Amino acid sequence: MSAITPFEELLQQVTRAAHDLWIKGWAERNAGNISVRLKQEQMPENGTATQDDWHELGFEAPALAGEFFLFSSTGCHMRNVELLPERYLGIIELDEQARRFRRVWGFSGGGRPTSELAPHLIAHAARVVASAGADRVVMHAHAPVLIALTYSMDLDTARLTHLLWEMHTECVVVLPTGCGFVPWSVPGSIDLARATAEELSKRPLAIWQFHGAIGTGPDIDTAFGLIDTAEKAAQIYKHAAACGGIRNKLSNAQIAALARAFSVTPDPEILGE
Ligand code: 13P
Ligand code: ZN
Repeated sequence: MSAITPFEELLQQVTRAAHDLWIKGWAERNAGNISVRLKQEQMPENGTATQDDWHELGFEAPALAGEFFLFSSTGCHMRNVELLPERYLGIIELDEQARRFRRVWGFSGGGRPTSELAPHLIAHAARVVASAGADRVVMHAHAPVLIALTYSMDLDTARLTHLLWEMHTECVVVLPTGCGFVPWSVPGSIDLARATAEELSKRPLAIWQFHGAIGTGPDIDTAFGLIDTAEKAAQIYKHAAACGGIRNKLSNAQIAALARAFSVTPDPEILGE
């Protein structure tokens, strides 16, 4: 039996993540999207010869010039990606100015990358800088309890992060730099992309008000795990509120003790005194 190639392994990871987004209840209909900045060894074995024209991005992302990305296609249902990965996923190449893209693999049937192309690519550009090139994955999910918090509370990054840290012991360990809050903008817009990138230049996870989460990381598991941990903390908050109200929560001293024990540095502006 021949060994699995890095490209096949990546396809397996992405199709499983797409399935898990559905199982989690984070991807109704065509909700959610995934992108991966590819390593050279993750390129498809059959090459990337293409007849596609170059398409204008409408923005520039110079940090990503000449890079290749695996993207979920717009309109695809995450629950179906595992059935036909070559139809619902595809690879794009950015030109040397990072102003245009073309499709070089997949998207069979004429698909195009997600309508959230701008937020994804500008997020990748922010994370390339913030992580010194380590981060390669951007994942967007309609995580319902995190979304609900943005309807029920007046939030900013500090309030949202503090709430998540207080409501789940794991949270400050997994998310010491916090969870960014991005006020509502039209999905897929440059405004949404720029506001998201501003948060993601400081922390790997952000919440779009009234819309969903956007998680990043060096691999699929890390990006998924950040969204999962924040959504779990939000769920605990919701359950506690429904069980008669929040009577107790982790104190700043307890959060600081966790940080010391697990050798992480919580954002001092958020933890406060
Ligand atoms: P796409 O189907 O274009 O990926 O859009 C889904 C979504 O969640 C938009 O925010
Ligand atoms: Zn969405």
